[in-house]
Amino acid sequence: MFVETNKAIALLKQGEVVALPTETVYGLSADATNAAAVAEIYRLKQRPQFNPLIAHYADINAVAEDVLLNEAAQKCADNFWPGPLTMVLPQQPQSRLATLTCAGLPTAAVRVPSHPLMQQVLAELSLPLAAPSANISGNITATTAMHVASQFPETLPILDGGACDVGLESTIIDLTTDQPAILRVGGIPQADIEACIGPVHMAQADGQIKAPGMLLRHYAPRSPLILTEPATWPAKAVFIFFGEKPAHIPSHVTCLPLGHTDQAAARCLFQRLHEADALQPDLIVAPLIPAAGLGSAINDRLQRAAQA
Ligand code: TXA
Ligand code: MG
Repeated sequence: MFVETNKAIALLKQGEVVALPTETVYGLSADATNAAAVAEIYRLKQRPQFNPLIAHYADINAVAEDVLLNEAAQKCADNFWPGPLTMVLPQQPQSRLATLTCAGLPTAAVRVPSHPLMQQVLAELSLPLAAPSANISGNITATTAMHVASQFPETLPILDGGACDVGLESTIIDLTTDQPAILRVGGIPQADIEACIGPVHMAQADGQIKAPGMLLRHYAPRSPLILTEPATWPAKAVFIFFGEKPAHIPSHVTCLPLGHTDQAAARCLFQRLHEADALQPDLIVAPLIPAAGLGSAINDRLQRAAQA
């Protein structure tokens, strides 16, 4: 059910869940200080309650009410907010966040999104909004209002803010220790963060859940997806490609372009996965792309989508 901005704000005030646009992906949003509202997010998304949510804020002053900002966090905020960077920081003793928002952790994942409608909602509400990506757990992420509508009951209110500009989830960086660690690659490349705060390392995807966005199988279409071209193509196949289309792809294969730049590819990656899946093919083939810029985050999503 599509709603206007004022209706979305009114519903959020009442503790309802509303799907909102951000510059990264759509978020399934609710008042992050309201445990019952947050519980409804987990239920709708079919998400285990040990997997914490990101709290979204209008600006850094609002963020500072709930978490302790250290020097690295200040620098990152100056450089990347509003925008697709999420920081994990220790909560303030007087943090307003519901225990369930942070899954009982002493830390919180916080972000200031840049999408103008999300900004307007956050500013008028004066409350943090908990918002995981607006997809059922494990499914392909939603980057348009239609992607959201197709996954959830008709009763879910959705604010349509157009197609998401970045198209990939935020980069998540853990700044709770002296050694900053990237928990999830995303909309801000690692190199940009290192240019701002010095070396950061990649958290090991060893199953210990720091950021369960790291769960191995994720972003999964229903049809099998592989990263290398098969020796023989099945009758119904989709090829998702970066740059120029290779001449040797058989003519019966449906070819979907990602564009010629990492940013263009990020913007349409999930759209292409949704389109491919809607065709219900026997096989989806999506080779990895060059790792520069957003390429490594794109490849991360493709690799997870390919996990059988
Ligand atoms: O771009 C995005 O980040 C989108 C939009 C809606 O803002 N949100 C998003 O949320 O991707 P979600 O729930 O799909 O991913 C949030 C990730 C999860 O992997 C979760 O485990 C991690 O953030 N996370 C949240 N709180 C955390 C914490 N305190 N420590 C470590 N990881 C945390
Ligand atoms: Mg997600």
